[in-house]
Amino acid sequence: MTELVGSCCSGHNVCIMAYGQTGSGKTHTMVGDQLNPGVNRLAIASVLRACRGRSGWQFSFAMCAVEVYNEDIRDLLRPPRAANAGGTAPKGLKLMTDVSGAAAIQGLTEIPVTSEADIDRCIARCERTRIYSATRLNGVSSRSHVIVMLRVSGESGAASELTSQSVTSTLTLCDLAGSESVQKSGVCGAGLREASAINRSLLSLGKVFEDLRKRQRPCFRESKLTRLLQPHLTGSSRCLVIVTVRESVNHLDETIRSLMFGHSAMQTQPADCAAAAAAAVDADAATAASATTAGTSLRHD
Ligand SMILES: Nc1ncnc2c1ncn2[C@@H]1O[C@H](COP(=O)(O)OP(=O)(O)OP(=O)(O)O)[C@@H](O)[C@H]1O
Ligand SMILES: [Mg+2]
Repeated sequence: MTELVGSCCSGHNVCIMAYGQTGSGKTHTMVGDQLNPGVNRLAIASVLRACRGRSGWQFSFAMCAVEVYNEDIRDLLRPPRAANAGGTAPKGLKLMTDVSGAAAIQGLTEIPVTSEADIDRCIARCERTRIYSATRLNGVSSRSHVIVMLRVSGESGAASELTSQSVTSTLTLCDLAGSESVQKSGVCGAGLREASAINRSLLSLGKVFEDLRKRQRPCFRESKLTRLLQPHLTGSSRCLVIVTVRESVNHLDETIRSLMFGHSAMQTQPADCAAAAAAAVDADAATAASATTAGTSLRHD
């Protein structure tokens, strides 16, 4: 992972996403806890370190974060006062298309970061704001897709303007909500609406990977999730898919579907998407629990 995320310093967009059924450990892998920092903290810290080690260059960093909840895009780093204004639910952000045709989010909060402590504060704020609720399959189920972004800007300190260079890139870290059988999760009402929005958007993401694999033109416009991820699945971007699975045989169907998703991502040709999917099943839960080294994270049911 160090090498992959380090390529942000030379101007490559990098995306790491966790995919798998509900309760399989995506959030555990991406967010972690105080003792076991997840991919988000480790990857961002690694980019900061790699950039600091690039002699002759000056870098600046900013973080932003959104969640896609019921096809609404919400700002997870908005100032607390704005978030609580009138006690109402936060308004969805508008998704625009920029000159290059990529999705751009209007009015998104960007927080400059310079240290690991700044990263921790931003991640903690996201965790306070994002939506979790309990289902039969997971007591802390993510009800939205969470996308954390680190914007990187660098300039070489060359003496003359003619020879100076600059790079910009984004590290995108995506904790997807899990695919969910509503019979098993037992959700109803708002939970049912959330589950169907989650399943629909994951289906559209699966179709995008399938089209990329078949070298067909994918339709990114089917969901907000795929529109947001488009810049990371095309061009010279580099993408790592971590597939998490539940060990129990009761979830075999979902496990097979998740591994097929990983397989499809792994088959994607570099010309269309520089994707490296890590989808190997590691039966050793101790190894798999280390989200930083294994592509697949297992947990005991
Ligand atoms: N490798 C692991 N080691 C220890 N605990 C784990 C591991 N993976 C997951 N867990 C625990 O299992 C529970 C479910 O994991 P988590 O919330 O990360 O799943 P998820 O895939 O994000 O599910 P959802 O799609 O519903 O959000 C959590 O309590 C989490 O702490
Ligand atoms: Mg989760």
